[in-house]
Amino acid sequence: MNIFLDTANIEEIKKAKRWGVLRGLTTNPSIVAREGKEFLDLATELCELVSPFPVSLEVVDRTGEGMAEQARAISALARNVVVKLPTNPEGLAALNLLKGEGVKTNLTLIFSTSQAILAMSGGATYISPFIGRLEDRGYEGMGLVRDIMNIHSAYNFKTEVIAASIRDPHQVIEIAKTGAHIVTLPFAVLEKMLLNTMTDADLDKFLNDWEKVPGRENAFKGTRRLEKVGA
Ligand code: E4P
Repeated sequence: MNIFLDTANIEEIKKAKRWGVLRGLTTNPSIVAREGKEFLDLATELCELVSPFPVSLEVVDRTGEGMAEQARAISALARNVVVKLPTNPEGLAALNLLKGEGVKTNLTLIFSTSQAILAMSGGATYISPFIGRLEDRGYEGMGLVRDIMNIHSAYNFKTEVIAASIRDPHQVIEIAKTGAHIVTLPFAVLEKMLLNTMTDADLDKFLNDWEKVPGRENAFKGTRRLEKVGA
């Protein structure tokens, strides 16, 4: 399962890159608005920073024709742009208009299996079922991903499934069990997956004990070779 970040925050992206786990980025108009930056400047910076991995940027028109036009414009920005289209009648029409143009697409705001079937049948590059937002509204989110993955493998769709709208590490584990191709995470969830107070406490103990080891000052200088000790 590939890990994407669901953010437009440069510092968060840099931290995830440093950990070597970042394989792509998703954004939406709300995420972009949070940064308060000129859109094209921000989009360019994101594409450069995350390259060669994909960056999803969302269209904001309400008509299929308008969405397709915005999709063509924004995908010309960089090779790794993926255009997010809403999974509604106009979004599906936009997907159809873009067919054969080489524009990569991410059909977003998926809350039902039937929407996922249509988006995959329409040839979306990615689809994004929204787990957290379903569960916020009292529905079961994980069943949606499970159903989509079963249908995906039964019909061998080429679309990749991005489990989106994630609230905590437990959801990430459950999503991984479904075989979803990708999970997109807020940075806070990624950090929670890694941080563990037991790791911190036990590391402190190791490092305190290290202070009692003779010759520790020379331990990592790389000056001694095995042949010098006769091996
Ligand atoms: C995915 O592409 C969306 O940007 C995102 O996961 C929405 O998540 P939210 O429900 O946390 O806003």
